Amino acid sequence: MTARWSIGLVPLTVLIVAVAVGVRNSNYGDVGQCRSIPGDPSWPSEDDWNGLNRTVQGKLIANIPLAAPCHHSSLDGTDTYDQEKCDALRDTWFFPETHLVSPSSPMAYQFTNNSCNPFLDPDSPCGLGYHAEYTINATSASDLQAAIRFVKRHNIRLVIRNTGHDYLGKSTGAYALAVWTRHMKSMEHIPKYEFPQSDYQGPALKMGAGIENIEAYKFASSHGLMVVGGNCPNVGLAGGYIQGGGISILSSKYGLAADQALSWEVVTASGDLITASPAENTDLFWALRGGGGGTFGIVVSVTVKAHPDTFFSAAYMNVFNDGNNTDAIYSSLGTFFQSLPSLVDAGAWVVWVAAPFGFMIIPAMVAGLHAAELDGYLQPTREKMDQLGLQYQYSSADYPGFIESYNSIPPMWNVSDFTMGGRLMPRELVQDQDSTDALVNAVRTVSSQALMSGVSFNVANAVSSPSDVAANPYFRKTLFSAVVGAPLNYTDWAATKAAQDQITYKLLPELKAITPNGAGYLSEADFQEPDFKTTFYGAHYEKLLAIKQKYDPDDIFYAKTAVGSDRWDERVDGRLCTKPSIWGFDVPDLIRRYV
Ligand SMILES: Cc1cc2nc3c(=O)[nH]c(=O)nc-3n(C[C@H](O)[C@H](O)[C@H](O)COP(=O)(O)OP(=O)(O)OC[C@H]3O[C@@H](n4cnc5c(N)ncnc54)[C@H](O)[C@@H]3O)c2cc1C
Ligand SMILES: *[C@@H]1O[C@H](CO)[C@@H](O)[C@H](O)[C@H]1NC(C)=O
Ligand SMILES: *[C@@H]1O[C@H](CO)[C@@H](O)[C@H](O)[C@H]1NC(C)=O
Ligand SMILES: *[C@@H]1O[C@H](CO)[C@@H](O)[C@H](O)[C@H]1NC(C)=O
Ligand SMILES: *[C@@H]1O[C@H](CO)[C@@H](O)[C@H](O)[C@H]1NC(C)=O
Ligand SMILES: *[C@@H]1O[C@H](CO)[C@@H](O)[C@H](O)[C@H]1NC(C)=O
Ligand SMILES: *[C@@H]1O[C@H](CO)[C@@H](O)[C@H](O)[C@H]1NC(C)=O
Repeated sequence: MTARWSIGLVPLTVLIVAVAVGVRNSNYGDVGQCRSIPGDPSWPSEDDWNGLNRTVQGKLIANIPLAAPCHHSSLDGTDTYDQEKCDALRDTWFFPETHLVSPSSPMAYQFTNNSCNPFLDPDSPCGLGYHAEYTINATSASDLQAAIRFVKRHNIRLVIRNTGHDYLGKSTGAYALAVWTRHMKSMEHIPKYEFPQSDYQGPALKMGAGIENIEAYKFASSHGLMVVGGNCPNVGLAGGYIQGGGISILSSKYGLAADQALSWEVVTASGDLITASPAENTDLFWALRGGGGGTFGIVVSVTVKAHPDTFFSAAYMNVFNDGNNTDAIYSSLGTFFQSLPSLVDAGAWVVWVAAPFGFMIIPAMVAGLHAAELDGYLQPTREKMDQLGLQYQYSSADYPGFIESYNSIPPMWNVSDFTMGGRLMPRELVQDQDSTDALVNAVRTVSSQALMSGVSFNVANAVSSPSDVAANPYFRKTLFSAVVGAPLNYTDWAATKAAQDQITYKLLPELKAITPNGAGYLSEADFQEPDFKTTFYGAHYEKLLAIKQKYDPDDIFYAKTAVGSDRWDERVDGRLCTKPSIWGFDVPDLIRRYV
């Protein structure tokens, strides 16, 4: 007790000094500063908002929570309950399309603060919670520039929302002005991209910020091309996906999505529209390639390499756990994991799921390889399953092009129903039997309690050095990105919180134990990751932070777990404030630890 108190006194003194310093310095972004919320003297007046609305030609939206029709209470006192609308909403709540058209609803529901829950009683309250207060339905760079000027003038939190898919709560924020990039849908085919400072010469695609995977795929296909994009059709290729790294069906052939970027148009925190390329603003060009969305600027467009379309093959497999075959399933997983390096080296992208209900490959897909060859790579797994007497289904097929192959993937894109965590699993884990056994054991522990999936790829050969782009260098030695999910419970919020904590404190540690000094993929990870700086950004963190400070000295761009975000605290009441800090120490953290 005495020892604890004497340790406590030092930080307490530090705290008092810090508060004193905080009172003296009250510039934007300084010690102890908070963004404005309604009721603050600095919050814009009705006239200010109307002025902004005129500047953006009427594209300003005052947000209403998506689930308002399921509740009587509403923001302005009118009864918003509409049973028919509410029933329809409940029926479609878990589809991405339901949230895609909303200017404010994040697909990861837990980041709304449970403020307007469609599955609760109509008499329960409905408020904005952590939804953005206003949204600009942007169509041009000048709309984005207007937003930047406005938030700076009024000290308001800014949120960049594209599709709202983000699993870590990065595209929503309480009392924020959001810019919505979804409708920025320009697309241009450049038959021969030539650029003095780029060693790339070939076809390219220039995409507006709102372009989704499927839109890019169809457009590319119409020109006999394909592009590196994500799995879910309506994830924003040009938004958080490519800026966060971007794992793709084509990754084992061409690398991460971020590796494909040739040039960006960006509205920066200064309000300027600039180009980031190998010739101009090269540091920003580097940072945007995998350093995370919502951090360095608002991307208006990105130009990416396109590749000639080719034939594909895909294989699917499943084996159900009937309660008696658990040992056999996990035993066969060892063989499967050991076959992954040769599969990804042959160019494959392999998605698998392990859960209490069994094991599935959905799918293994590869460009430029026939199904008969793909079968060969999966043969050892099938033989092992045969030996163990497991009943499984296996099928494979050839496809003439990317779109046909992509369309074979069953649509299973429910969102808003799982909390998430993740870990990048290195290739070295399957290089000897002992570490493979340890991997299987960890996967068994996790997948007996939660849904687990892995996406396998090899991006080691895509760049000349892992530091060519900002994406975590750990990607280059990764064999699969592991994701752990636990269901959200809409009627028992404490259970949802407990499920997330189980991921953070029980399940992910199983994967961490076999991957010391490992990493996580910033787009498929746990927002509660205790050491997000090292885990998500690896050795690139300090360089990214320096670039962030250069282009965004006032922290206009804040997003949970983004580079530089640890200077800020998102308080329960929705306020976003800088953490009091002195000499680089985080005062609230010192208090938690020692006082
Ligand atoms: C069903 C599903 C499937 C997925 N599949 C894959 C996959 O196959 N491979 C993969 O790598 N990832 C995948 N992801 C993860 C995905 O890459 C991330 O969720 C990504 O952040 C989504 O980007 P978005 O722009 O669509 O989403 P949003 O939630 O709108 O934005 C995500 C982040 O990017 C920022 N951002 C968006 N647009 C811009 C812009 N124009 N300028 C600056 N910042 C911006 C936002 O502020 C936010 O921080 C998947 C996610 C889901 C939900
Ligand atoms: C902005 O202007 C448009 C068109 O005049 C109007 O429909 C809309 O309600 C306004 N938005 C706000 C927040 O007032
Ligand atoms: C997916 O979401 C739909 C619509 O909300 C729902 O009806 C369906 O049961 C969900 N499917 C799964 C597998 O959860
Ligand atoms: C978030 O929820 C907590 C707990 O219910 C509440 O105290 C807080 O005021 C909420 N914040 C907002 C902005 O809704
Ligand atoms: C946003 O703008 C687009 C046009 O760019 C329009 O089609 C869409 O309906 C608008 N959405 C909302 C919610 O206002
Ligand atoms: C599992 O094993 C038990 C005991 O041998 C047997 O009774 C049961 O039918 C088996 N279940 C299945 C699905 O094979
Ligand atoms: C959610 O929690 C409630 C109350 O604890 C429980 O009755 C219900 O079964 C849970 N629902 C799910 C889908 O787990």
